[in-house]
Amino acid sequence: MDALELLHHRVSCPALMEPGPTSEQLQNIYQAALRAPDHGAIRPWRFLTVSGASRERLGELFLKAALTDNPELAPERQEKTRNMPLRAPTLIVVIAAVCDHPKVPPLEQEISAGCAAQNIILAAHAQGLGAMWRTGDMAYHPVVKSGLGVEATETIIGYIYLGSAKKLRTAPQHEHEAYVTEW
Ligand SMILES: Cc1cc2nc3c(=O)[nH]c(=O)nc-3n(C[C@H](O)[C@H](O)[C@H](O)COP(=O)(O)O)c2cc1C
Repeated sequence: MDALELLHHRVSCPALMEPGPTSEQLQNIYQAALRAPDHGAIRPWRFLTVSGASRERLGELFLKAALTDNPELAPERQEKTRNMPLRAPTLIVVIAAVCDHPKVPPLEQEISAGCAAQNIILAAHAQGLGAMWRTGDMAYHPVVKSGLGVEATETIIGYIYLGSAKKLRTAPQHEHEAYVTEW
């Protein structure tokens, strides 16, 4: 796929199904992630791949977190929360692993990890896969962070849901002039 075609027409895909990425496709995805711009070559990121039955364990962790906040959570909300990770065959948890650095503040390191996340969804799209970047409460909840082994100094940048697209919408094309000023 032409690079500009990819950049201009990538869309997120909330409705995903099997098959998920092959191991070769995942390898390409991670290689792309590692090419994110990175001040100081810190590599301020790490990734968890969650697929197959591990998604159910992640769903149980989401539910545990939600019940910590609200032990009276309605059964249908419990079911919805537990099933969240089942919305795609494979998830990548993108984690910003920020360190103390004399020249590179935490914000820059988190932006780098965000760029890695963007490279992941672009590499997915380039290979004909669908992808959706999600966060929500479950990206910030201490119970989830602890259950995933995410350190207090680390941030979950997002869950990238990956799979085959049920359908892809056409990318809206915006007028860039509304956002750009010649200074
Ligand atoms: C950091 C971040 C977190 C996001 N979290 C969610 C989310 O939790 N749920 C959701 O529906 N969309 C979320 N989105 C938005 C979608 O990933 C997507 O960008 C949006 O639906 C627009 O679709 P598009 O990428 O095709 O333009 C998030 C995007 C970013 C960058």
